[in-house]
Amino acid sequence: MNRRRFLQAGSSLALTALASSHLAFGADAEIVLSTDKPGEVISPHIYGHFIEHLGGVIYDGVWVGRNSAIPNIDGIRKQFVDDMKLIGAPNLRWPGGCFADGYHWRDGIGKARPRTHNFWQRRMPAGTDSTETNQFGIHEFMHLCRLIGTEPYVAANVGSSTPAEFHDWISYCNAPAGTLSLADERAKNGDPQPFNIQYWGVGNESWGCGGLMRPEEYAQKYRQFVTQFPNYKEPFLVATGPRGHSADEDIGWTTGFFEGMRGFDPPNGFSIHFYTDLRPTPLKAADFNVPEWYEVLLRGVRIDKVISDHWQEMGKFDTKRRTKFVVDEWGVWYKAGEELTPSYILSQPITMREAVHTGLTFDIFNRHADKIAMANVAQTVNCIHSLFLARGDKFVRTPVYHVFDMYRVHMGARQVPFTNPVAELNVPVLAGQARLPGLSASASMRDRRLAVTMTNPSAESSVKMRLRISGGARPTEARGTVLTHPDMHAGNTFSHPEEVKPGALPVTLSGDAVEVALPRNSVAVVECMLA
Ligand code: AHR
Repeated sequence: MNRRRFLQAGSSLALTALASSHLAFGADAEIVLSTDKPGEVISPHIYGHFIEHLGGVIYDGVWVGRNSAIPNIDGIRKQFVDDMKLIGAPNLRWPGGCFADGYHWRDGIGKARPRTHNFWQRRMPAGTDSTETNQFGIHEFMHLCRLIGTEPYVAANVGSSTPAEFHDWISYCNAPAGTLSLADERAKNGDPQPFNIQYWGVGNESWGCGGLMRPEEYAQKYRQFVTQFPNYKEPFLVATGPRGHSADEDIGWTTGFFEGMRGFDPPNGFSIHFYTDLRPTPLKAADFNVPEWYEVLLRGVRIDKVISDHWQEMGKFDTKRRTKFVVDEWGVWYKAGEELTPSYILSQPITMREAVHTGLTFDIFNRHADKIAMANVAQTVNCIHSLFLARGDKFVRTPVYHVFDMYRVHMGARQVPFTNPVAELNVPVLAGQARLPGLSASASMRDRRLAVTMTNPSAESSVKMRLRISGGARPTEARGTVLTHPDMHAGNTFSHPEEVKPGALPVTLSGDAVEVALPRNSVAVVECMLA
């Protein structure tokens, strides 16, 4: 990016803060960035999404219907499309989740769509009509993906289906019109062009709602489901992986699955689900104290070890490292009781705590860029760790949305190694004291543009940072953006949709360094042009 485009991009964010003075600063710590030793490319797919037929996620969150007064494009909520485009959403997983293993794709095509059972009915408030209307099927999903410009990732039914139903769905989606009858049926239903879906999940949580299987049973099912895969488009196949947030990390699932796959081609992707699962605790989403702030962050950063441990286990079998992780469900999940409205089950308020958790999680994903092919937040709208809350004509971006926006800079850029000498924090948590990173960061380069994202998880103190560039390059311009709020409980509501939003972060150029002060509970991005 040249200088003019860099400045224009900054002004479009309305957040430019350029400076070139040499002020006395007194940094608490210095990060040294080795821009001359770029590392792995960070897969854009790490910043991915997930929507499920559950509560208010699809119906209302995404699909408002063609006759709705809410601005829509062929029934799809326009604001959702526009905002997903703004953050460059790289992929979208659908239709579940647990819903996927009860879903039969034919129910969602054609004019007459049946009303069917939805897995989540059991959780809906008594008296709510929660049968699945199937108004949103594969055609509507693909129109949504095309409108956003995002890659579809479809989770197929293994738990209550057959390989034949799976293969027919793939053929329906991917075979060219004029070849198979299934492809002609797709054309008759409005889409002559093949969908060319590459990412297929072979089941979901097969150890739980996806069929209560043992790993070796699932490995056998997986083989049956993929052996005769209709190869119209080279697939990226994702096998069900562990429940990473289990106390034992569910390492046994990984061992059992790969044991069961000995002698066969391993999948391209192995899913990990990792929820920062507060459901067994009394913790609330909107109302919390300082130890509860740290408790959530502490449980969140556990994903770092879960990724390393499963990678090590997988390496015992997949010595050529043909399989990468797909962390296709992650987020902070609180117990029920704070929903947007009772029938929007699993929807929860999103505060600065989730924003900081998101920054910490993305830094961990970026550090493991060599292991992670994709990740999908659970779930994008009206759900657990959402970027958007929607109800009727009301729509709001949560603090999590803004973190996704700030981390866009890393999508497809090269990691930059750096030292991070900021001392760990000794923090109060539910069970006494614990240690948390004092500052979490990611750095990447694209052309001559360096981007450093930083998260200050402290509920009490700001931190002054000096970002020094080693290897002879010098920053010629820099700008900073920060997401923070004086009240760590703050979030965006329908009545206060912009309570939490990014603002300019003053930056100072000082020789080969950029200096910034990060407020407590904040997520920041500093972008510099290097000469
Ligand atoms: O995201 C909500 C649910 O959590 C998904 O349906 C399931 O896969 C997981 O248990």
